[in-house]
Amino acid sequence: MKTALLQGRGRLAMLAGLFLLASTGAWLLAQSALADKTAAGAEVPEWQQTEQDMKVFKTPQCGCCTDWVVYMRDEGFTVEAVDVSQQQLNEIKQAAGLSRELASCHTGFIDGYVIEGHVPAEDVRRLLEERPTLSGLAVPGMPVGSPGMEMGDRYDPYHVVSFDDDGGMDIFSSHHQP
Ligand code: CU
Ligand code: CU
Repeated sequence: MKTALLQGRGRLAMLAGLFLLASTGAWLLAQSALADKTAAGAEVPEWQQTEQDMKVFKTPQCGCCTDWVVYMRDEGFTVEAVDVSQQQLNEIKQAAGLSRELASCHTGFIDGYVIEGHVPAEDVRRLLEERPTLSGLAVPGMPVGSPGMEMGDRYDPYHVVSFDDDGGMDIFSSHHQP
């Protein structure tokens, strides 16, 4: 009698375990389906993808591009820097939806967002935290004093501009001092 009860309990425990296993499996499947959907929704082209946090395209001659990549690495990002020709870079900017007024030297990609030019790391972090519906951020031109564009004490105030794929632009942040 006692043995039968124990066996009964054992069977119950086993059934409960199986149920738990099955529901965990279903949850995991649901999660991976969700992840696939997000990835497909973002439609990150293959050439933008990287194992690292960020992929940055630049021309080999660009010194301030290298300085910005070093700055981002110092800020804790892992960055894959890819050298391309100026013509290839222009094509990449066009594909990224960057108009001429938004353009700078290098073009970066992180989590489906475009990061154009000398954008401060704090703005990239805020973008990834808030995850707004945007194409990305740009610091048009190359303002002196922005990260990677340091020139002694000189500092030109600048805006970080957010942009979307409909041509909409907005001020994401303003930088007035180092
Ligand atoms: Cu530059
Ligand atoms: Cu650059």
